[in-house]
Amino acid sequence: MPLYSINGPRLNQTLEELGHLGESPDGMDRVAYSPEDILGRNYSINLMKDAGLETRIDTAGNIIGRVSGLDDSLPAIAIGSHTDTVPKGGKYDGALGVMAAIEVMRTLRERGHHTRHPVEVINFTNEEGTRFHRWLVGSRSMSGMLEQEDLDAVDDNGYGLGPCLYDIGGDMSRIGESARKPGELAAYFELHIEQGPYLHNSGTPIGVVTGITGRAVFEVEIEGKANHAGTTPMSARRDALVSASKLVLDIQKMAAEQEICRVSTVGSIKAAPNAVNVIPGSASIGLEFRDTDMKALEAAEHQLRLLTEKTMTNDEVKVNVERHRFTESVPITKEMQALVAEAAENCGFEWEPQASGAGHDAQAIANIAPVAMIFVPSVDGISHSKEEYSTPEDCANGTQVLLELLLLADDRF
Ligand code: HGY
Ligand code: MN
Ligand code: MN
Repeated sequence: MPLYSINGPRLNQTLEELGHLGESPDGMDRVAYSPEDILGRNYSINLMKDAGLETRIDTAGNIIGRVSGLDDSLPAIAIGSHTDTVPKGGKYDGALGVMAAIEVMRTLRERGHHTRHPVEVINFTNEEGTRFHRWLVGSRSMSGMLEQEDLDAVDDNGYGLGPCLYDIGGDMSRIGESARKPGELAAYFELHIEQGPYLHNSGTPIGVVTGITGRAVFEVEIEGKANHAGTTPMSARRDALVSASKLVLDIQKMAAEQEICRVSTVGSIKAAPNAVNVIPGSASIGLEFRDTDMKALEAAEHQLRLLTEKTMTNDEVKVNVERHRFTESVPITKEMQALVAEAAENCGFEWEPQASGAGHDAQAIANIAPVAMIFVPSVDGISHSKEEYSTPEDCANGTQVLLELLLLADDRF
């Protein structure tokens, strides 16, 4: 039996309220560094203060709410996630982990329980990486994994990351100061929706995450020849959008048929000049590959480059492949998996091991501290969509397990 019960209705109330901040008829629009994102960030700061946490924003824009431990010389135990969303995203991805972490601290405060370790609730900034094509920016900054490409990142309009960071209380000129040293954090725990169908289909309330996927992101630019759509014979065309479209289907086959990696996705396509009576002179596609095996991602990159060479020869177009990012897959240790399983069992919940096909801040923080993740079901496995939904009961269950996990770790680390 758990020592304390979290307040499920209050947790779900905060999820509901956060879910109205940055909401559009097509889904959530709290894209990192946007005014909508700032609404969600400020909401989490106010809740952290209500929970008695000392809040600060580090130079990477991460929001950190801290409460001292009975022994402040101990490294902090961190719990959290992110409140930024993909465009037209859902109300639970990331949001649940931050709201649950705050609910855990509100419960401990109400019960007058002081942990041995200091505890930090963290709302990581820019987990999704939509605008600057660089994801996990806050958590990679905190774990000393930032790269020059992060610092030089510009959005599709050439606007730099620096001024955006300033807008949310960060400071690009001192972003390095956000890095925590190994040993500063005793552990990091993240509650997250599964974003896939397995827990929902099996009717299992809790997932014990066994590992977090690796990911490789590319941009492919194609240069053909713009020409008149009415007068140019079909045999004389160098249509960049046709070449891009053939690549889209070949990239999909790489996972669906050739099984080179677990999944392959072309998520964006652009054509210019984007006029119906002009043969597209240029086109670009944004794509990603995912797999827990990094060798599979290397094989996928190799196959992508073979495909683009073939496109250049067959279609007489120029093709440039830009590698945006390779993110390492991260295994969760057996010990940390066992701790999550014990926490779930102490709360009386069935659980099952679950690999994560989604990326998470935990895979960056794993660079400086032991990490563990708890999953709760996503109804019909839908995520990154306004249809994303997890039941109030599942959200409360996950929060209860997060509280139990924190107390187990506080006792044993
Ligand atoms: O894309 C992902 O895997 C995560 O939701 N950022
Ligand atoms: Mn996401
Ligand atoms: Mn997420």
